[in-house]
Amino acid sequence: MDLGNGVAPVGAPVTSTSATTSVFASVPEAPQDPILGLNELFREDPSPHKVNLGVGAYRTDENRPYVLGVVKRIEQEMAADTATVHEYLPIEGWPEFRRLSAHLVFGADAPALREERVVTLQSLSGTGSLRVVAEFLAHFYRPGTVCCIPQPTWGNHKNIFPRAGLPVREYRYYDDANRGLDYDGMVEDLEAAPTGSIVVLHACAHNPTGADPDMQQWQGVLEVVRRRRHFPLFDCAYQGFASGSFERDAAAIRLFAAATPPLEMAVTQSFAKNMGLYGERVGALHVVCAEAAVTRAVMSQLKQVARAMYSSPPGHGAAIVTRVLRDPALFAEWETEVQVMSGRIMRMRRELHQALQENGTPGNWGHVLTQIGMFSFTGLSASQCLYLRERYYIYMTSNGRISMAGLTSDKVRYLADAMKDAVLHAGKDGGSGGMAPKI
Ligand SMILES: Cc1ncc(COP(=O)(O)O)c(C=O)c1O
Repeated sequence: MDLGNGVAPVGAPVTSTSATTSVFASVPEAPQDPILGLNELFREDPSPHKVNLGVGAYRTDENRPYVLGVVKRIEQEMAADTATVHEYLPIEGWPEFRRLSAHLVFGADAPALREERVVTLQSLSGTGSLRVVAEFLAHFYRPGTVCCIPQPTWGNHKNIFPRAGLPVREYRYYDDANRGLDYDGMVEDLEAAPTGSIVVLHACAHNPTGADPDMQQWQGVLEVVRRRRHFPLFDCAYQGFASGSFERDAAAIRLFAAATPPLEMAVTQSFAKNMGLYGERVGALHVVCAEAAVTRAVMSQLKQVARAMYSSPPGHGAAIVTRVLRDPALFAEWETEVQVMSGRIMRMRRELHQALQENGTPGNWGHVLTQIGMFSFTGLSASQCLYLRERYYIYMTSNGRISMAGLTSDKVRYLADAMKDAVLHAGKDGGSGGMAPKI
């Protein structure tokens, strides 16, 4: 595979141009990940005023990482349980975790589950699940297929698919001028994509724009996907986190999965955000097949991919999730906590919007209210973002994305006033839409 790093192919003589003894002397340094690089800069900043709005993890209104109460209790029980062992899990993960995580995404009575057409593999959170399905599709889906991703999208999509051997191509998604979904552009590009393309869709709370299709628009996307015989791949990283309702946030997936005749598709599911289990790497890959007869072979190949990549998934986080999903009382408690988290994010949107109105920041800021999920795509230019960082120690990605989950009540006014200053005094160049230089 060409990684574009200039490494000579296997078998070529190793030539050294310097006196160094390392065989890695010619390895070029890769660019830093824009988000992780931003966090590093933030950590090093000594200013007491600094605010991190680049972070993709929930923070409380006191700006602390949050361990859900229900998770804390289960962990205490697990620690006290002397029967706990640390054996390997099966390659495909725990059966109960797989079954219950599929129920959460599709609904327990989904026809595809009843008809046993869904293959579920426990994997390493959302990213690991995406990497496994990408490699599976690169081997077993149509040769030469392109993977269509939204413009803009979560940055890692552009790493994951090409690394697995799937070239990416962007479809229009966001309308900068109207600060919302470019539905017509999206449908037009999906219509024009090669027949049978893989189409990556954010199930809810699109990252980074916070702009989701409404149900009528999802119906339109479904129609074009079916007409063009595309393969939808739903990236579901925020179920429950967007609206506070697991059902509502899975509505697009359920619409596609219930289509008749059946549509083949895949869903990658993460429990990082909605259960606050970021570092535990809990997630699943679901492949919905047109007929039950093929599921056995599909599962066997997914296991081959996982076996060669990481052998078997981690157990601790999955044990926590399984306990929550299996017990109606714990599930209800979880749902309440998810509503508290999503509610705080929505409150930050309202407060920021109000503060921008009150201080008279030029421009229309209605999108801060209407966008959904963890992020707001502010429309601030790269220069304005840099201005905020240099003058106000406010850190955000250079495409103008701010994490509403990283904003706290005591910083709302500070941010709004800083934004006003940036809008009035910093350049508009760079714009949003991912064209801006990296941090
Ligand atoms: C759209 C999207 N997909 C997938 C992920 C993967 O998250 P994780 O691998 O932590 O589950 C993220 C995380 O930020 C995301 O925003």
